[in-house]
Amino acid sequence: MIFENIITSLHGEGERKTGLITLNRPKQLNALNDALMDELGSALRAFDADAGIGCIVITGSEKAFAAGADISAMAKFNLTDTYGSDFITRNWETIRSIRKPVIAAVAGFALGGGCELAMMCDFIIAADTAKFGQPEIKLGIIPGAGGTQRLPRAVGKAKAMDMVLTGRMMDATEAERTGLVSRVVPLAELMSVALAAAQSINELSGMSVMMAKESVNRAFEGTLADGVMFERRLFHSLFATVDQKEGMDAFLNKRKPVFVQR
Ligand code: CAA
Repeated sequence: MIFENIITSLHGEGERKTGLITLNRPKQLNALNDALMDELGSALRAFDADAGIGCIVITGSEKAFAAGADISAMAKFNLTDTYGSDFITRNWETIRSIRKPVIAAVAGFALGGGCELAMMCDFIIAADTAKFGQPEIKLGIIPGAGGTQRLPRAVGKAKAMDMVLTGRMMDATEAERTGLVSRVVPLAELMSVALAAAQSINELSGMSVMMAKESVNRAFEGTLADGVMFERRLFHSLFATVDQKEGMDAFLNKRKPVFVQR
């Protein structure tokens, strides 16, 4: 597929590769407009459907992962343009339907919709230059792509309120301390670390990886009792896979497992 606002590429060795999506509107600091979000959705869906892909990584540039929704596109919107066309929902929610793991590799600014996009990924690996924020309040609006819901779940109410109400940025150290990101690495190592994490996932059994993702996500969507029951049933069903037999046999025989993705 030919894209104008993103670049896609394949990485890694072995049978299953990593699909890398690089947001590419450098002049606008990767501001997220409709065209970019449509392309991102198409690329995500294509990678998700491709049996040769085990994991997806989304990244931006060294200066910005993404500086938010495109303000120049939004500036003149009225209620008909937003509520009437269900602005944001239409092409921002695709990522939620992706079943394979999606890692955000963030350097520079991840602001507004950029921070929200990173939070929609399964986990965030940040460069030491990363800056996260929900500055929408300074524009007379509030976060509109899940920021008021995912940020408190990630960093707790106090930090989330501080970020959303003042619009201040959080640096990579604070983001790691508060649990927004899983790892912070030097900028020069960001892509090698993110692609290595993806590669390690590619080598696993895709069935167990998808079920693990589905089960962790359930923790944010229901009661603890429902979540534990959901997890238990997925756990039970994995005993119907060839890869479970292989993984356990390999462990007991002190050898590396050869997963067949069944
Ligand atoms: N939308 C449109 N254009 C943007 C943009 C955005 N979100 N962020 C940056 N740009 C553009 C700038 O207008 C500028 O364009 P020109 O060169 O044509 O003037 C270019 O990118 C470079 O930006 P700056 O000159 O401002 O760069 P800087 O290094 O001085 O500052 C910054 C960087 C702090 C990220 C600053 O650009 C900024 O504050 N951006 C806006 C951040 C923001 O408010 N994001 C929230 C958007 S609303 C939202 O996301 C809603 C939602 O929840 C979905």
